[in-house]
This record gives sequence, structure tokens and C-alpha cells, in this order.
Amino acid sequence: MAVIYLGNRRIKAEIGNTLLEALQKGKVNISSLCGGRGLCGKCKVVVQKGYENIDYRKVAEEEFLNESEIKEGYRLSCLTKIIKDGEIYITIPLEWLRESQRMVIAGKLVPVEIKPTFIKFFLKLNPATLTDVLADRDRIQKALESSIGKLVKRIDLHVLRKIPVILRESDWKITVGVWNEQEIITVEIGDKTHSSYGFALDIGTSKLAGYLVDLNSGKIITSESVVNPQTSFGEDIIARITFASENERNLEEIHKILIEKINQLIRTCCKRSTILTDEITDMVIAGNTVMQQLFLKITPFYLGKSPFVPLTKSHLDVKARELGVRINKGSYIHILPQVAGYVGGDAVADVIATELNKTDAMSLLIDIGTNTELLLGNREQIWACSCASGPAFEGAHVKFGTHAKSGAIEKIWINPLSLEVSYETIGRGRPTGICGSGIIDAISEMFIKGIIDRTGKIQKKEGYRRIRNDEFIVAYASETALGADIVITQRDVREIQYAKAAIYTGITILMKHARIPCQEIEKVFMAGSFGTYVDPASARNIGMIPDIPLNRIEFVGNTAGSGACLALINKDVRREAEDVVKMIKYVELAAEPNFQTVYFNSLNLPNENIGEFPTVQNLISKYRFQQ
Ligand code: FES
Repeated sequence: MAVIYLGNRRIKAEIGNTLLEALQKGKVNISSLCGGRGLCGKCKVVVQKGYENIDYRKVAEEEFLNESEIKEGYRLSCLTKIIKDGEIYITIPLEWLRESQRMVIAGKLVPVEIKPTFIKFFLKLNPATLTDVLADRDRIQKALESSIGKLVKRIDLHVLRKIPVILRESDWKITVGVWNEQEIITVEIGDKTHSSYGFALDIGTSKLAGYLVDLNSGKIITSESVVNPQTSFGEDIIARITFASENERNLEEIHKILIEKINQLIRTCCKRSTILTDEITDMVIAGNTVMQQLFLKITPFYLGKSPFVPLTKSHLDVKARELGVRINKGSYIHILPQVAGYVGGDAVADVIATELNKTDAMSLLIDIGTNTELLLGNREQIWACSCASGPAFEGAHVKFGTHAKSGAIEKIWINPLSLEVSYETIGRGRPTGICGSGIIDAISEMFIKGIIDRTGKIQKKEGYRRIRNDEFIVAYASETALGADIVITQRDVREIQYAKAAIYTGITILMKHARIPCQEIEKVFMAGSFGTYVDPASARNIGMIPDIPLNRIEFVGNTAGSGACLALINKDVRREAEDVVKMIKYVELAAEPNFQTVYFNSLNLPNENIGEFPTVQNLISKYRFQQ
């Protein structure tokens, strides 16, 4: 018997089995769309140790793995046989795992020193006597000064109100909480230094992701994600700006609905962790500029008008109670600095979490969402832009589009000879729709296998029953949970073309500003919930990302959220965020003279200039030749 180690799992495997067979027997949900025939390339694993115990059968004209990926340990699990007893250590890239829970809120977290902005101090005070009549406030400040070597002058009013009683009820032993060495914002009876909590929040256009963090250990205790309730006022940023700018009442309404949801999110996380909301004493917000302004109830009107100037680029520290956020009454909320009208604190958090600002390697970060942020650069300079990719990748504006939830088709493969479809759903149930990663897969497969042409037009094929009335049938009614065919319409294909063209245009213009060709991009970080599950090969095939070796791509999850967590754990990160803003050169796409040309060229599959996509060109020649 051989043993496969996958994270903290240990899976026994028989000699002669492929890695795929062993993993499936071990109930690992790995993709295998072609049924283990080495045709779909969807069953990748990364072998870390134990090469002597396996044998890899490389298929002729290998297109799924290049030499450098093979060197790094990438293998198709269906073509990798276990040949000896022994240990095999593997990992499975997230995008090849089939999971039932798809709300990605975890993100890359670089280790940082625990150095929070809010710190608690336990003080043993001398009781007031007739011979020592120092005022209560002065007594606390003096004791604190001798403990930390600095006079903290400000004390929040709600703390002042409690001090006389707390001092006497506690036998003069209290814990004070100090924010940023500047203000006492909490006071408690006895020694409470062991418990100190903060909350980080990523306000996305479509989704809110909250993280309850232990400020003593720096660990995330729990996290939760919910739909941004502002979607009821419009799915994209422009619709929100329009609504909020109409009048004061609308601004109040769109702000209030957000705050209520945030309070609910905080309550959920606290309840799950048996922590009181009052125990949360620090909070950090990362969001795009419009979201951050709506959170603060600042009109976004001028963000929708050229030259798209935000209220502020610097961070803001605002009392939570002034915004109606229900955490400890004295607490501050730190709103991360922002770069421009359409590159906000979330992009700054992305940089912090991936350390893009500290690397020598020229790196591209793509944070895919309704609004996609793009950052290209390294420790010397970073260029950034934002593109309106729209909600199609989140399943909106697509006939059978759905969020990435149970029943959503997430992966699709089309047999190049029979043109029959294989698909996988989240949770393995009957299909209920197609989520973003499934749609990208579908368009990629339809294009590579000749079902749509380079303009995206669905091709009529004699006797081919999956094409009907300009629609491509992915799943027949008899297979679905809807009792109806799940199809991709001509309009759906167009929606994806618009969205992918917006992203590729942004990347192209950033490369122009940075004066580098795509081959010189050494690292690509794919961020965001959708970005975590998209098949990079499919994204390349449709021309959403440049044709670069896929092993340069790293999936980093929700880095906007993890960047906010880092700013909660370490106060220096907040300073670093200000420096990041200074080193980012914002590129306004609307002001680019060749924007329209690049955009129109990017609408085709993979691009008007197919020479920019040699790998895709090869794939097309191969499959079209077979047909
Ligand atoms: S299952 Fe391995 S290539 Fe399809």
C-alpha cells in the first residue's frame, strides 16, 4: 500500500491505481471531466514528494502541462500511476477541487508581527484617600503613563462616564484600552488583557466579507460572507452612484441598508464565537472608492463625473458610533486609503496582502469582480486601473447564470470528436444553472472546439443536436433540476466577450504604461472569489488574460479581506498602505487615446490579433484539424 498525503489527510492507495483513482476512492472531490482519459486536463495535482513511487505517462503533444510545470511537480492525476509502496505528498490547486461551499473569503495572509492599533493595559491604582485626592481621570492617566511611558491625553466620553463607578467596583484594578497611543476608548473591571478583538471588513460591490480577529494572537476566529444588500439599488457601481446621487434620502437609504447588513454580519460572527459585539474594539474597512464613500454616507456624485475625483486619498479614522456600526461605543473604524475614484482601499489591501510592493518580480494582480481592479508592477512602481467588467462573471445577465452555489455548473468539457458535453456541478447535484467559472469554461470549450467562431457567433452544424435556435444546450432538461434545458445563448456569449474585453483592455493599457510585453510578467495573482475558481487555461483561451505560462499564476483568494485583516493586526501596515498609495500610478482608462481600439480588438476570441495568443492558436489548429 502506498500513502498519499494531501494537507492533513492521509489516503491509502493501491499500487497500479492512478492518483485520480486513489483520490476518488479517498473521497477527494477532484475534477475529472473526461472520466480519466487524459483529454480534458482538469485533474491536475502538484506532487511535492515521492516521485520515486509514481510514474507519469505524458500524452503525445502534451498541451495541458508544459515542461516547466512538469518540473514544478504538476501532473494530470489520471495519467499518474502509483508504482511502489511509499509516501506521496501532493497538493491540489483550488480550481481543480470540487467544493460544495464556494464563498471564498479566505485570502493570502503574509505573516506580520502582532502589533495592533488597539492595546489593553491592566492598571493597579492606588485608591483615593483624604491624603491622595487626585482626580479619577488624572489617576488613570498617570498610572498609564508610568506603564507605557507616554501620556494619553484623550479619553472617550463614554469611558469618562463609566470611570467613577468602575474604579470603585473594581477595587481600583482596571483594564484600559488605548487606541493608537492617543485615546483611552475602553475601561473594564479587573484584568481583561487576555481578550481583545477586532473586525475586518471587505465591502465588495456584490459581496461583504467580514473577519472576526483575535488581536492578541492575530488569528482569524471566524469569517462570514453575505451579498451586499445595495445590489437591490443596482448591480454595478454606476447604478449605485446614480441612485445615491439623486437626493439625500436615497443616499441615506443606500448607506443605512449597508450598515444594517454589516451589523448583522458582525452579530453572526460574534454569536458563533461567543463574543459580545461590545468586545470588538477596532475595525478596518477595505472597499472600492464608491463603496467606501457610501459606507461613510458621502455622496458619490463626483465619482461619476469626470475627472472622477474622490473625497480623500488618505485613510480616515471614524468613531463607529457615528456611522451606526454596533461594536464597542468608543471604537474607531479605520478606512484604508484609496488611490483614485475607481481604485480604492480594496486594491491597496490587495497589494499589502500579496506584497506586490515588495517584490522584484514584475507582477500582475487581477481582482475580478463586478468592478475589476488591475495592478501591474513591483517594488519600484505600480500602475493601476479599474475596469467595469460587469456582473456577468457573477452569473448576472446570463440566461442560466447563477451564483457559485450548490447545483451550479462550474466546469465544462466538450469532447473534441463527438462534441458531447461533460460538466460538473458544485455539490455534485443536478444542475440548476451555470456559475462564472462554468461560463468561462463553456465559452472557452465552445471556441476551441469550433462551436463558436472568433467573433463569438454560434455556428450552425448539420445534425448536431446541441445547437438549437442560436443556443447551445449544456444540459438537457432530463438532467437538470429545473426541468428545462440549461443553455448558453448568443447573448450570453456576447456578455462574456464584453466582460473579458474590458479586463484584457485594462491589462494591455497597463503593460503599455509599464513598457513591458506580457512575456515579462513573472507572476500573476488572481484574486477575488470568482478569480479563485476560474480555470486559468479557459481564461487565457477566451482572451481574458495574456498568453503566459500558467504556472506563473497564483490564486490568492480574497486579498482585499486579508489585507484589511493585516491592517487590523499590525499598525505599521496602515502606514505602509499610505506608502502604497504614493507608489501607485493611476491610469484612467477613459482618458486613454487608444482605449476604444484596444477594447474592440479584445472583443474577438481570443483577440483580433491572434498572434498574441500562440498557445490558443495551437489548440485551435489541433482540434479543428481533428473535426
Ligand atoms: S480526468 Fe485527467 S485529463 Fe481528464
